[in-house]
Amino acid sequence: MQKWQPESWQTKTIRQIPDYPSAQALDATLSELANYPPLVTPLEIKRLKQQLANAAAGKAFILQGGDCAESFAECRTNNIINKTRILLQMSLILLYGLRKPIVRVGRIAGQFAKPRSEDVETRDGETLTTYRGDIINQPGFSAKERTPDPQRILTAYNYAARTLNLLRALGSGGFADLQHPENWDLDFMKHSPLAGEYHKLVDKIEDVISFIQSIPGMDAPELGRVDFFTSHEALLLPYEQALTHCIPDDNGTPFWYNLSAHLPWVGMRTADPDSAHIEYLRGINNPIAIKVGPRMTREWLLQLLDILHPDNEPGRITLIHRFGADTIKEQLPPMLDTVKASGKTVLWLCDPMHGNTEKTQDGIKTRRFDNILSELTQAFDIHVSEGTLLGGVHFELTGDNVTECTGGARGLSDKDLHKGYKSLVDPRLNYEQSLEMAMLIAKKFKG
Ligand code: PEP
Ligand code: CO
Repeated sequence: MQKWQPESWQTKTIRQIPDYPSAQALDATLSELANYPPLVTPLEIKRLKQQLANAAAGKAFILQGGDCAESFAECRTNNIINKTRILLQMSLILLYGLRKPIVRVGRIAGQFAKPRSEDVETRDGETLTTYRGDIINQPGFSAKERTPDPQRILTAYNYAARTLNLLRALGSGGFADLQHPENWDLDFMKHSPLAGEYHKLVDKIEDVISFIQSIPGMDAPELGRVDFFTSHEALLLPYEQALTHCIPDDNGTPFWYNLSAHLPWVGMRTADPDSAHIEYLRGINNPIAIKVGPRMTREWLLQLLDILHPDNEPGRITLIHRFGADTIKEQLPPMLDTVKASGKTVLWLCDPMHGNTEKTQDGIKTRRFDNILSELTQAFDIHVSEGTLLGGVHFELTGDNVTECTGGARGLSDKDLHKGYKSLVDPRLNYEQSLEMAMLIAKKFKG
């Protein structure tokens, strides 16, 4: 195998990274970015790796969630607060239901680049480069907006830094409203057949919190300081490379880290064993997540484990399966067997979103709450029957009241989708649907 360097990916097969009109302008931008301060630290990354290892051993549970694609326009105070709040509220519900520490990992502060199935888009006879996420180009349909612009890379860094700054402030401040579940916006309960149960759950959580707070000298660590980790798809490798730094550990041994996020992941479109993306990921010391979908073969998965997980280091590899409610039953067990036979330890997460995307009659991309829940429920059961462990869940969600996925307690229908459809890419669970999902997972565990 060739020697790894932060730029060695450039000699491999590069997919999903656009050609910039000026290589010079891109290089100038990247030199500038390389001097910017890191967004996360090796210490935090190692702490997350330990927690992922705990989850793989059944001692913690991962809640990963956020936008399909963050947009510059939504990097606003309220959007960030709402997103953070929903993840915290879900984690509290899961903590109560699962009785395990919940590790929160946002798809946040850098989830700006999207893999696309088509390189170009044609409208009324005009063909332009496809929209690839705000870090690359703009969604509007004009040649100017669709041309990849390196300046957007610096803008993305700035938005990621702003987002993280607020996240860190909210985390260290304890996020006061967590301690008052009675104030959560639970209006949707009125619409739910599970209303009674929800009220009971919220009452119980409130009761536990006030009990803990009533004990002198006793602090509820989950409520005082909340950890929040970041993740994104490590897709735009020039950005990832510029934020990759060599840091010696306590013994002076140098390690490379991607300091743009704690947990970078790779999607299947860029996960061929000889791809640029796998080459890049192999050399960094972050934990790595890999999406595992219907096209994955046993051989492919084993090759990825060979390349990315040679030392079987605890917490290093997370496999996020995303098959779809109709096929998970056939497709997940062979993957679980393959990993078992490899003798390697991984953390399994279920992404019940990406295998359940469909189009309505009007051509709107949506996902149905029941299909999402069905894939998740099946995933829990399959892991139990295969003797493996589902260590967490992965959602596309937002804390805002959008209408992108149908179903849920309020029974959103296809006709409701136009009311608040904001996603530029995939449909997300809204605030109510996310909270309901967390409650149903907690209930499933209790059951
Ligand atoms: C995503 O997580 O936004 C995504 C594109 O997923 P996948 O690569 O699994 O389709
Ligand atoms: Co998506």
